[in-house]
Amino acid sequence: MKNQLNTPHDNSVEMWDKYYASKRGSPMFEKIVHYGRKIYFGDVFARNVLKLGGQANSYLETGAGTGTTLKQIQQQTLARCVGIEKTPLAHSLGVQNAKNCEIILGDALALPLPDQSFEVAYSLGLFEHFSLEEQQQFLKEQARVATKKILIEVPTRTPHMMTIMWFNRKIRGLKGVWADDELFTKQKFAQKFPGLEFNYHFDWASLAMTCWFVLDPQIVRDYFPKQTPLN
Ligand SMILES: C[S@@+](CC[C@H](N)C(=O)[O-])C[C@H]1O[C@@H](n2cnc3c(N)ncnc32)[C@H](O)[C@@H]1O
Repeated sequence: MKNQLNTPHDNSVEMWDKYYASKRGSPMFEKIVHYGRKIYFGDVFARNVLKLGGQANSYLETGAGTGTTLKQIQQQTLARCVGIEKTPLAHSLGVQNAKNCEIILGDALALPLPDQSFEVAYSLGLFEHFSLEEQQQFLKEQARVATKKILIEVPTRTPHMMTIMWFNRKIRGLKGVWADDELFTKQKFAQKFPGLEFNYHFDWASLAMTCWFVLDPQIVRDYFPKQTPLN
C-alpha cells in the first residue's frame, strides 16, 4: 500500500446511503461499526473534542452523520451545537437523533454559515474522504467559520487499520468508507500542508484507530491564499 498524498476515494452520496442503510439488515461488519460508534466511539470522540477544543459556547461538527457525538457534546455542555451533513439519509437520522442540535443539509466545501460563527469546528471521519484540493478547501472553510480551534479526526496508518482497509477493498471488493479511506500519520499531514502549524494527538482510546490534528483558525486563514481552484 503506497503512502500517496492524493489517493482516489469514493465519497459519493450513493456510497454513504449504502453505509447508513446497512443499519437495517446488511453485512455484519457495518453493523459492528454502527454499534461501536453508538456505544463506545461517540463517547470517546466527545471527550476528545472537549479536551482538545476546550469548553466553548458553540461547536460545529461537519459531516455530522447521525449526530451521535454532537448530541453528547450538547448534553454535556449545553452549548449551541450545529451539524452539517451532505447525505440526506444521514441528515434525517441526525435530525431524529440529536433533537437539541441543529442539523443542516449542506456541503463542507461551501458551508452555509457566516464567517467566525463557531468557537470550535470539528470533524470526525470526514477529511480522509477528500482529495488534496478538497482538503485544502475544507481547511479554508473550517478556518472561515471558526474562532478558537479546528479539530480533525482521521484514521491512523497503523497495522490493524491498514489490514482492515486492504481486506475490505481487495477481498470484499468495497469502495468508500472502511475501504479506501486515506490513513494518516503526523508526517503525512505535515507533508501535505508544508509549513502549516498544527498539534498532533494519537488516540489510544479509539483502539489506536484514529488520530487528531488540532489547528488555530487564524493560522490556517493566514496559510491559504484567498483564491483556490474550488473557489
Ligand atoms: C464516517 S461518516 C462520520 C459521521 C459522524 N461524524 C460520526 O462520527 O459518526 C462521514 C460523514 O461525512 C458526510 N460527508 C461526506 N462528504 C461531505 C461533505 N462534502 N459535506 C458534508 N458532509 C459530508 C457523509 O455523508 C458522512 O455522513
